[in-house]
Amino acid sequence: MENTYLTKKETLKINEDTYLITLENINFEIGQFLMIETNKLVRKPFILGTWDGKTAISVQIKGKGTKHIVETTQTLKAHFPLGNPFIPPKGKGIVIISPTCLTLANLMTEKYNCDVLVGSKTPLKIKIPFDYAIGDEYFAQKIDNLNTYDWYLISGSKSMEEFVLSKIDSPNVFVSLEEYMGCGIGACKSCAIFTKNGVKHVCTDGPIFRRDML
Ligand code: FES
Repeated sequence: MENTYLTKKETLKINEDTYLITLENINFEIGQFLMIETNKLVRKPFILGTWDGKTAISVQIKGKGTKHIVETTQTLKAHFPLGNPFIPPKGKGIVIISPTCLTLANLMTEKYNCDVLVGSKTPLKIKIPFDYAIGDEYFAQKIDNLNTYDWYLISGSKSMEEFVLSKIDSPNVFVSLEEYMGCGIGACKSCAIFTKNGVKHVCTDGPIFRRDML
């Protein structure tokens, strides 16, 4: 595990409030995340992925800390890699994401040749090589007409994840719960969730869980 400064390479606007930031390459496994310290000394988690052959994250501006990460600083104080690697079951899968997980989806397609569906509330500002839906209504239509896959990985807002879970009747559905994390290293206990196997911590037991655990 490393605790160091990473240099931003490029920042691309994905949609109205979400940005893709490429970084110098670091070692990590699919499913792992990093924590970035903001100017307020708060640490925020971001799932790791790739873009244009570089390590990359997607950041939604939600407040001063994320605005600082996107717009102000050129170096990011980061702690990585954290969390457990994710290996999907065999067969054809799909990654259903919000723009905040675009780089994870990109890495998944590179490694597993899976399909991707991106649901964005606002129009996209960059070209992406994936299927996408703009707006909740169109996204819901896409989900209703989804092909059957051997496995599904859902990563987005809590409401989006709950909606997609309610529509897919398969045991092989995996959900990324990184939005629950505070410290990312098992110290603060703020990411505790109640599962069928008792209390789990998203940062050290996840961040990706199979649906029948939840
Ligand atoms: S985020 Fe602090 S214990 Fe998991």
